[in-house]
Amino acid sequence: MTSMTDVHPIDPRNVQLTEDGKLRHFLSIGGLSKEILEEILDTADSFVNIGEKSVKKVPLLRGKTVVNLFFENSTRTRSTFELAAQRLSADVLNLDISKSATAKGETLMDTLQNLEAMGSDMFVIRHADSGAQHFIASQVTPDVAIINAGDGRHAHPTQAMLDMYTIRKHKGDFSKLKVAIVGDILHSRVARSQVQALNILGAEEVRLIGPKTLLPDNLAELGAKLYTRMEDGLKDVDVVIMLRLQKERMDGALLPSEGEFYRLYGLTSEKLNYARPDAIVMHPGPINRGVEIESVVADGPQSLILNQVSYGIAIRMAVMSMTVSGQMQQKNQQDQNNEEASA
Ligand code: CP
Repeated sequence: MTSMTDVHPIDPRNVQLTEDGKLRHFLSIGGLSKEILEEILDTADSFVNIGEKSVKKVPLLRGKTVVNLFFENSTRTRSTFELAAQRLSADVLNLDISKSATAKGETLMDTLQNLEAMGSDMFVIRHADSGAQHFIASQVTPDVAIINAGDGRHAHPTQAMLDMYTIRKHKGDFSKLKVAIVGDILHSRVARSQVQALNILGAEEVRLIGPKTLLPDNLAELGAKLYTRMEDGLKDVDVVIMLRLQKERMDGALLPSEGEFYRLYGLTSEKLNYARPDAIVMHPGPINRGVEIESVVADGPQSLILNQVSYGIAIRMAVMSMTVSGQMQQKNQQDQNNEEASA
């Protein structure tokens, strides 16, 4: 797989924050402070009930144009970003990549620059190349915000934040929580972002469970404990996050068979008994029933899988409104600096 990070190393700290440390792009969890993550969660709290109101809109992005650019398939992320932008009163353009000039050979940056020339203020981008959004953020004009909706195996930061929101809302203080992430960790941009967010927010313990072939050592370096047996890894955990087997990203034979994977790592009600009795069950979706999770668990009383989807709108509203506010503050600061310089 091509990686823009080979050419353009990722330095999230410099690109995604203003000089005053406010969010101006949202590219990865790495490089963000606990205060910023908590601000995202608190801002989402102020939006979470908007779907129940008769008028499901606030004017925070009125007059702004948001462009959704999804170079990979999506149901949840794309739909909730669109709803989030609409609920913030933005104008939303969804470019259908399969019918766009990308098929005629137009480069990603040329597509971006043409859409920028139409007066777009924010791009929500999903791309197969790790680092694509970081590269774009370093190239766009200062008043355009870039939001990462998933890049290669690298990061899916809004998914991680809606997961953190779900955990905080249903289990409270992170410092008292043991969290297990189960399955295809190797190919998961979600797991990488979740481990970073859980560490920054101070979770008591983060465990990764899966077959050795799907457990990368580099996440252990971030402070996660690795387990190859569900019985050990799920013992006494408060949160179980299941992941999809990403067969589309598997180059070689990393698994004996789906049936064997389900036997060892599929979350059945029997295996869920290893966790605390009040443990919550999560999954970023799409779920593969009978591959990584049993239907009776996915649809059962401990499952928050559909709650995660609902909270995704509030988290995406929070991230969009915070980046626009960061951009405006930075622009005002620059205007002031220019005035002072020319006085
Ligand atoms: N969780 C997630 O990213 O789902 P989609 O691929 O449907 O957006």
